[in-house]
Amino acid sequence: MRRPVVMGNWKLNGSKSMVSELLSGLNAELAGVTGVDVAVAPPTLYLDQAERLIKEGGNKLILGAQNTDVNNSGAFTGDTSPEMLKEFGASHIIIGHSERRDYHSESDEFVAKKFAFLKENSLIPVLCIGESEAQNEAGETEAVCARQIDAVIKECGVDALNGAIIAYEPIWAIGTGKAATAEDAQRIHASIRAHIAKESEAVANQVIIQYGGSVKPENAASYFAQPDIDGALVGGASLDAKSFAAIAKAAAEAKA
Ligand code: PGA
Repeated sequence: MRRPVVMGNWKLNGSKSMVSELLSGLNAELAGVTGVDVAVAPPTLYLDQAERLIKEGGNKLILGAQNTDVNNSGAFTGDTSPEMLKEFGASHIIIGHSERRDYHSESDEFVAKKFAFLKENSLIPVLCIGESEAQNEAGETEAVCARQIDAVIKECGVDALNGAIIAYEPIWAIGTGKAATAEDAQRIHASIRAHIAKESEAVANQVIIQYGGSVKPENAASYFAQPDIDGALVGGASLDAKSFAAIAKAAAEAKA
């Protein structure tokens, strides 16, 4: 049985007061909630503050981050390393988000290098994959997801997916309110798992595959009712403690 993981991707949103309010709110909302791992990925600058607030709240939340470099130190202006993320207690690190692939021209191969480096540093990659609207309309969704996963398998081997998280996020569903239907998402999740199973059934059976793209409290339960949807990567709705906690609770209930 896979334990669901619900993660909040705060993107470029936050301030000291917002971080404090949101994390205190989540600490309260999640009291007594079991059966789900709940993670938050604030902007890097707020990791220190977040680490302290999460400890104060009894460590109900897992700390994550939105990106990593592929070096631990050196002349790489503006970057953040796995060692630094680890020092602040971050364990779940988002890589390959479509916003990074698009706005920072990150290739499948570069994302695979990040994946490998996170594993080398004993961190958990949250590997985002997913197709554009044009690729979706051209019927290329499964092929795009397979290609993005194959880059990681080629770089690190299939066993590297053990303990890792995949987030299937159709790009056209991100921040648009136009979420994939639970049935469509389930079909793609099953195809991703089947693709990995061609290399290793054991790895495919244990890997967490989250859905992401306009997940809200109103639609969350429909995703978690699907056998191959093991959680969610949540953007907009993760900025509100009640909404994000409602999504986490829906995952815990559905997978209990
Ligand atoms: P959204 O973002 O929930 O706001 O659609 C999801 C994501 O980009 O991870």
